[in-house]
Amino acid sequence: MAHDIPTTGIRLLGISGSIRRDSHCTAVLRSLQPLLPASATIELFALDDVPLYNADLDGDAPPAAVVRLKSAIAQADGLVLCSPEYNYGMPGVLKNAIDWASRPGFASPLKGKPALIITASPGSAGGVRAQAQIRDALAATLARPVVRQHVAIANVNARLRDGRLADEATLDFVHAALADLLEDIALLGKAAFGPAGRS
Ligand code: FNR
Repeated sequence: MAHDIPTTGIRLLGISGSIRRDSHCTAVLRSLQPLLPASATIELFALDDVPLYNADLDGDAPPAAVVRLKSAIAQADGLVLCSPEYNYGMPGVLKNAIDWASRPGFASPLKGKPALIITASPGSAGGVRAQAQIRDALAATLARPVVRQHVAIANVNARLRDGRLADEATLDFVHAALADLLEDIALLGKAAFGPAGRS
């Protein structure tokens, strides 16, 4: 199927499930801009400063990092999450960020937001065992995880060079996944401005 890439400025937000300085997942996200069409840009949001979720802090004046996170998500047309798998699941850092961003429930900046899920690991499973958890958590927020083959990058350390993805087959696969994300964003845009319902 031909990908219907939007021609206007599309803003993507990349969120890494690892806050480690030399994170492979963050390196994957840093590799994505050259794979995007000229109409799209990606910025990264680092989760370092997001505190542990506490409903007592989630009132009129939430922590500054949370305000920045929710604003960045609200302003993005789509998300790209790249996460390691910790003990077969999603790292607490990422779950914590999803929890903060998910409020108010079912009416948060995540609602309706297309989101591409990528996992990566130096191991042979590519973090794939975390994917269902990430997808489920996003579904709970009414976000729109992109439905496609899983993007799970195994042996990720061997596919990076100078902090960027350098493996052609992986780049091709990730490129196709990004095209699917952009197609979902385009379809949602058309649906929003499409024919009205019954009068
Ligand atoms: C891991 N790691 C790991 N890897 C994996 O493939 N499956 C797993 O279940 C786990 N579990 C796990 C738990 C914990 C607590 C740590 C710290 C690590 C290894 C992990 O994939 C590796 O450290 C990655 O390099 C982490 O991703 P970043 O930080 O490089 O993006």
